[in-house]
Amino acid sequence: MFTPERFAGGLLALASLSTVAYAQAMPGRYGFGTPATAPDLARFLTVQPDGRGLPPGSGNAAAGAKVYAQSCFACHGDKLQGNPAKGIGGDRLIGGRGSLATAAPVKTVESYWPYSTTLFDYVKRAMPFSAPGSLSDDDAYAVVAYILAEGKVIKPSETMNAQTLPKVMMPNRDGFIPDSRPELDLYR
Ligand code: HEC
Repeated sequence: MFTPERFAGGLLALASLSTVAYAQAMPGRYGFGTPATAPDLARFLTVQPDGRGLPPGSGNAAAGAKVYAQSCFACHGDKLQGNPAKGIGGDRLIGGRGSLATAAPVKTVESYWPYSTTLFDYVKRAMPFSAPGSLSDDDAYAVVAYILAEGKVIKPSETMNAQTLPKVMMPNRDGFIPDSRPELDLYR
């Protein structure tokens, strides 16, 4: 049902997803609700492509292999090849490099994702699918390092943290065309 409370809740969620600036651009427009404060927003992890928002902590592929075996393997396969089983259905995470412009594109983290930082954001927020948000920051960095190392995007010896992760150049980083629609300025 539509209620002012629900609508205000929706606005708050919207403000937290975009930026404080967006909320401030429409002060008092609806006459209720309050702008989300920095502490309110701190409860939500939001990592920008350039690494802003990455938490402290670190991890490498060796540690990540353990996290993967414990928390990811059942759905994404022992070789990160994915698992098509019904009800599990984890995507393939590596391979497919150079396939995107072919008749049989294989979209994976390795072949498709433009930013390594998005991988941290997504994994920390949404995975494991069965217990999202349960990974520590160290475990999230470690499993990200493992996925990137298995995809030969980084060396197995490299440690991922808030400084090193944003410097990782993803293979498809330059494969996207900027979208010039003006309303997208809200999200930049
Ligand atoms: C219970 C099954 C399950 C487990 C466990 C699981 N995943 Fe997933 N994962 C999924 C499903 C299902 C999707 C697709 C979700 C969607 O499209 O909304 C997915 C998507 C992903 C993606 C995005 C792939 C893409 O190209 O879009 C990544 C990265 C990922 N998982 C990493 C992990 C990591 C790392 C772990 C362990 C910490 C993990 N997953 C554990 C089921 C699982």
